[in-house]
Amino acid sequence: MRFGHFDDERREYVITRPDTPLPWINYLGSEEYFGIISNTAGGYSFYRDARLRRLTRYRYNNAPLDVGGRYVYLRDDASGDFWSPSWQPTQRELEDYACRHGLGYSIISSRYQGISAEMLYFVPGGETLEIWRVRVTNERAEPAKLSLFSSIEFCLWDAQDDATNFQRNYSVGEVEVEDGVIYHKTEYRERRDHFAFFACSEPLAGFDTQRDAFLGPYRSWDRPIAVERGASSNSIAHGWQPSGSHHVRLEIGPGETKEVIFLLGYAENPRDAKFDPPGSQTIDKRLVRPTIDRYLQRAVVAEAFEALRARWTDLLGICQVQTGNEHVDRMVNVWNPYQCMVTFNMSRSASLFESGIGRGMGFRDTTQDLLGFVHMIPSRARERLIDVASTQLPTGGAYHQYQPLTKRGNNDVGSGFNDDPAWLVLAVAAYLKETGDTSILDVAVPYDNQPGTERPLYDHLQRSIEYTLERRGPHGLPLIGRADWNDCLNLNCFSETPGESFQTTENRSGGVAESIFIAGLMVLAANELADIAALRGDGAGAARCISAAAEMRDVVAQHGWDGAWFRRAYDFYGRPVGSAGNDEGQIFIEPQGMCIMAGIGLEDGRGRMALDSVRERLATPHGILVLQPAFTRYYRHLGEISTYPGGYKENAGVFCHTNPWVMIAETRVGNGDGALDYYLRINPSAREDLSEIHRGEPYVYAQMIAGKDAATPGEAKNTWLTGTAAWNFTAISQWILGIRPEHAGLRIDPCVPAAWGDFTLTRSFRGATYRIAVRKQPGTSGRVTRLRVDGRTVGGNLAPLPPSPGAEIEVEAFVEATP
Ligand code: BGC
Ligand code: NOJ
Repeated sequence: MRFGHFDDERREYVITRPDTPLPWINYLGSEEYFGIISNTAGGYSFYRDARLRRLTRYRYNNAPLDVGGRYVYLRDDASGDFWSPSWQPTQRELEDYACRHGLGYSIISSRYQGISAEMLYFVPGGETLEIWRVRVTNERAEPAKLSLFSSIEFCLWDAQDDATNFQRNYSVGEVEVEDGVIYHKTEYRERRDHFAFFACSEPLAGFDTQRDAFLGPYRSWDRPIAVERGASSNSIAHGWQPSGSHHVRLEIGPGETKEVIFLLGYAENPRDAKFDPPGSQTIDKRLVRPTIDRYLQRAVVAEAFEALRARWTDLLGICQVQTGNEHVDRMVNVWNPYQCMVTFNMSRSASLFESGIGRGMGFRDTTQDLLGFVHMIPSRARERLIDVASTQLPTGGAYHQYQPLTKRGNNDVGSGFNDDPAWLVLAVAAYLKETGDTSILDVAVPYDNQPGTERPLYDHLQRSIEYTLERRGPHGLPLIGRADWNDCLNLNCFSETPGESFQTTENRSGGVAESIFIAGLMVLAANELADIAALRGDGAGAARCISAAAEMRDVVAQHGWDGAWFRRAYDFYGRPVGSAGNDEGQIFIEPQGMCIMAGIGLEDGRGRMALDSVRERLATPHGILVLQPAFTRYYRHLGEISTYPGGYKENAGVFCHTNPWVMIAETRVGNGDGALDYYLRINPSAREDLSEIHRGEPYVYAQMIAGKDAATPGEAKNTWLTGTAAWNFTAISQWILGIRPEHAGLRIDPCVPAAWGDFTLTRSFRGATYRIAVRKQPGTSGRVTRLRVDGRTVGGNLAPLPPSPGAEIEVEAFVEATP
C-alpha cells in the first residue's frame, strides 16, 4: 500500500493523504539555517546548531508524534469555520491534499469548501531565513472574505534549557513588534547578539506574541481562540511562552488568487551595535531590515526558489544514470545524494529520531558521511575533513564526537572507540580520488585543536594506522576499546546499573577484547594509505602500510576465520564472538562485509564461502540482518547489543548501514545478481508498495528495518540521519554500476545482473564530463575489459584523467562475458 508517489520529473515525492503511518519529513536549508518539516507542516528551525540556536519549539515524542510547526490557519469570515490547509493541527477533512517534498523545499496544498491553498516552504541560498509563500485561491462562484493566520512558537534558543528550566524561562521571554514584524529577543538584553524575526508581506489586521493569548487557556493548536474568534489580541509576550502569529484579512474574488509571504529568520548584530538608539534596549534593525524587505517581494521569492531548483539540478548533474531500473535511477539520480547532503549537514542531530539536543558530530559518522558527499561540494568536504582531523588526539585516536559550534572534541563522550581513526583515512582517500587535490595532505592540522601541535594532514593519517597497530591483543588483532562500528558491542563494559552509558563506561579493565571488524577496516585503510604515500613519493611509508596490511590479513586468516565465515571479535576473556560455537550471535554481518571489501578471502575462496553463509543465515526479504541467532537475554559481557529485543537495532535488526558492505563484497567476488538483489531489498523506492509495513518515508533510507525475530518485521525506524545513505550511494554508484574515482582516472567496472543489457551514465570528474555507454549483452555476466575513449581503444577499464578541464569525454565500456 502507498501513501503517495514519486514525481521523477519534478524530483518530488508527492504524499497524497496526510495520515501517513509516521510523519514523513523533509529538510529545509543546507548552509547555516535549517529546518525539518513534516507532511503536515510540523517541525522546527535552527541556526547551525539544533540545540543551542533553536528558533522554534517542537514537541517530539508526543501524542501525536509531530506537535509544533509552521502552521497557517484559514478562516471563512462569513461562517466562522476555520481549517488548516496542511491538515494538522485542526484535522478538518480536506479535498485534494498533497504534500510535495522536493529538494530543500516542501509544498503543501489542499482545498476546503471551494478555497484552495498552497504553502511553499524553503530557505533561499545564502540567507539565514525561511520563506513561507502562501497562495489562496477562491474557486467559489462568490467572493470570499477570509482570515489568514500564521503561527509559530519560539524556542528560547537553548533547546535543552528550554525544555527544563521553567522557573527561569517563564520570566525571560521578550519580543518587539515593529512595522508588522515580530522580533523574538529573549536574552538579547544580555549575552546574545542574535534575535529572530517573523515578518509578513501584507498589512496586518492584528498579531499575537503570547502563546496563551493566541491559543486561549486550556486550548491547543487545533482550535486557537484567536482563529476561532477571527481576531488577534495584539498581545506582547512578557515571559511565559513567546510565540508569533500574524492575522491578515483577504478578500478574494471568484477565480482569483492572493499570495502572502511570511519570513522567519535569524539575525545577528555586532556586539557593540545591538541597540538603536544606543543605550536603549530596542533591537537595532538597520542591518536586518533590508533583507526582510527584499524577501517580502514576490519576484524575489520566485527567483530564489528557481535558484534553489537550479542549484540541485547542477549538484545532481554530477552523477546521472539511466539503467532502466526505476528504483536504481531515482535513488541514484535524486534521493540518495539528497539524503547524503542532509546527513552531511545534520550529522546525527535533528530528525524525528534524534532530538538535536544530545549528540555532536560523530568522528566515524562524519567521516563516513563524506563518502557520499565528496563528489557534490568538494570544498565543503575539504573543510569538514580539516575540522574532524583537528579534533584527532596526538595518539592517533579520536574524540568520538565533536561539537559543531565550537569544533572541539566532546569530553563527555571521550575517546577509545578504536575504529574511529581508520575512517579518517578512508574519507581523505575518497576526497583525493575525487579531486586530485593532494595539497590537502600538507595542510598543517593541529591535534586536539591545540595550537603548536600542527602537523601535515598526512601525519594524521599515519598516526591513525599506527593507533591500531599499537593497540593489539593476544591474537595480534586490534583491541576493540569501548566499541567499534557497532556501538552496542561493548566488551569492556559489564554494566549492571540502569541508565549507565554502555558506550562510555568501562567497568572492567585488563581484558583482551579484540575486533576482527577493525582488522578488516585497518587492512582497507592501510592499503588506501599506501596508495596515498605512493602519490607523495613516500616509498618507505607505502611499504610500511603494505606490510602492515599483509600482516593483519594473515592474522585474520589465522584467528579471524570460523570455518564458514569471519568471526566478529574476541571478548574480554579471549573467547570468540560470532562463532558457530556460541549459543546466540553465531554470525555477524560486519566482518563479512568489511574483510571482503578489504580483499581478505578473495584468493582462497573464503570470501565466497562467507557470503554464502550470509545468504543462508542473515539474508531476509527486508534486508540482511546484523546477526543470528538473536540474543534472547542480556549478556553482561556483550553489552548493549543484548539489551534490544530480538530483531531490533543492533540485535538482529537489518542495520541498513552494513548491507552495502555486503553488496560491495558481492561485487568483489563478481556476483552482480547478488549485489543488486541486496540493493533492492532495502532500496526505499523498491519498498514503496510496502509502505504500511515499512512505515518510514519511501524516499530515504532508514537506519534500521526490523528483522525477522521482531514482532514487526520490515518496519523501518530512524529514517534520514544514517551512514546508510553514504554507503548505499557508494555501493550502487561505485561498485555495482562501477563508476569509481581513482587517483589515476575513472574506473569503469560495473558488476550488474546478468539480465541487464546496455546502460548509460554521466559523471563529472576532475572538471570534465564523462559520458559513458556500457555495452553489455543481456543474459551474460562479465566485466569490462576494454574501453573506447573518444574513439581510441584503451585496454582494461580505467578511463584516463581528463586532458583538460571542461572536456567532454565519450566513453564506451565493453563487458566481456565470462564463459
Ligand atoms: C544505538 C546505536 C548508537 C548508540 C550511540 C545506541 O543506543 O543502538 O545505534 O550508535 O546508541 O548513541
Ligand atoms: C549509529 C551510530 O551513529 C554509528 O556511529 C554506529 O556505527 C551505528 N549506530 C552502529 O552502532
